[in-house]
Amino acid sequence: MSKLQIILEHIKKEFKKGNLNLGKILRSDFGIDISASYLNLNLRNPILIAPGPLSQTISQIKRAAKSGYGGMVLKSVVGEDKDGNASMKALRKRSTFARWVYDDEGNPIFHWNGGLDLRSLEDYLSFARKAFKIGKKENFPLIESFLCHLPKDVNEEWRIEEWEYTTKKLVEAAHVLYGDSPVILEIDFCPFLKREKLAVEKAAVLRWYREIPRLIKEVSSNVHIVPKLLNLDFGLDFQIEMAKAAKEGNADGVVIANRFFRRYVSKDTGEAYFTAHGGRELRVLNQKQIQEVRKILDIPISATGGTYSGRHVAEYLKIGAQNVQVLTYVMKKGFERAFEDLMFNTKDGFVTLILKEKINN
Ligand SMILES: Cc1cc2nc3c(=O)[nH]c(=O)nc-3n(C[C@H](O)[C@H](O)[C@H](O)COP(=O)(O)O)c2cc1C
Repeated sequence: MSKLQIILEHIKKEFKKGNLNLGKILRSDFGIDISASYLNLNLRNPILIAPGPLSQTISQIKRAAKSGYGGMVLKSVVGEDKDGNASMKALRKRSTFARWVYDDEGNPIFHWNGGLDLRSLEDYLSFARKAFKIGKKENFPLIESFLCHLPKDVNEEWRIEEWEYTTKKLVEAAHVLYGDSPVILEIDFCPFLKREKLAVEKAAVLRWYREIPRLIKEVSSNVHIVPKLLNLDFGLDFQIEMAKAAKEGNADGVVIANRFFRRYVSKDTGEAYFTAHGGRELRVLNQKQIQEVRKILDIPISATGGTYSGRHVAEYLKIGAQNVQVLTYVMKKGFERAFEDLMFNTKDGFVTLILKEKINN
């Protein structure tokens, strides 16, 4: 056994004994620090579960915490005003189709035609309140994500009541975990906005990024607003424009970036349909965006998209992301196996790579 293998086996053994704080073992035994952050939240490691079908129930939160992840972004909710009006309720769409496809590296990609969480805000909040109690108990950072009214064009007025009421309720739910520090709220600019014929006009999209953070902060003071960039087909310059608009609008960070929505043609059957897509192509796109944004903007970045190994996590961190949100790989492998593989895979696990570098130096 090589020195690396012996060390890896030792760490894995400790980890499996239930010593979940990998960072602590690495720090005390090898002087390596894998802790990370998401704005004001400290993470024991940089891998978060991204919002989606794995962050909708209490048992999933408990499982993710026990598996070792650094934290989790809860499934995005459609916001409402105090009377229950939700102008984005078309995004509470039950999926009628789901399938796995594979990219040219063999990575799995999930296709479906759903949207945001199906629950009403009230039902979602009762889940969120329980979620934050668990987060507090397990010392497991949680982040909420939502979307409210979006004007179709630059002349339409904002339905501020939806943003105001939903923010207030989400902040209340998170209080048990965040205490007096600002509550992080992601804004889910979801690829299915294109399906709903919303993310079409460039000026309207830029207005969303520029005005939403400020609009929320006018009605709620103790929040950090983190919009998720859409991946539109207007080119890299426009992607950067979106990040700039968010920064101008006083966003505290950005998530780069959501899956893209395009026509997909199956290589095997020739079948064509519109879907949100990811995989290697998304990772390459997003890494380019992060590099460009880092050159011109001082804004914290949470990375997401096409992460299938610890090497991909390391790549995102190297180009300046604070942390990395992973979903598809965990959907395919399960919480525990995915985490172990992302961390300890003997070829390209995140911990393996750090140890290799340390040994080589
Ligand atoms: C089935 C599914 C549902 C998703 N739902 C949400 C969501 O509710 N909110 C959100 O911000 N992103 C959502 N996403 C995007 C993921 O959070 C993630 O950013 C994206 O899938 C890229 O990461 P990945 O390649 O590791 O899956 C969803 C993705 C998938 C595949």
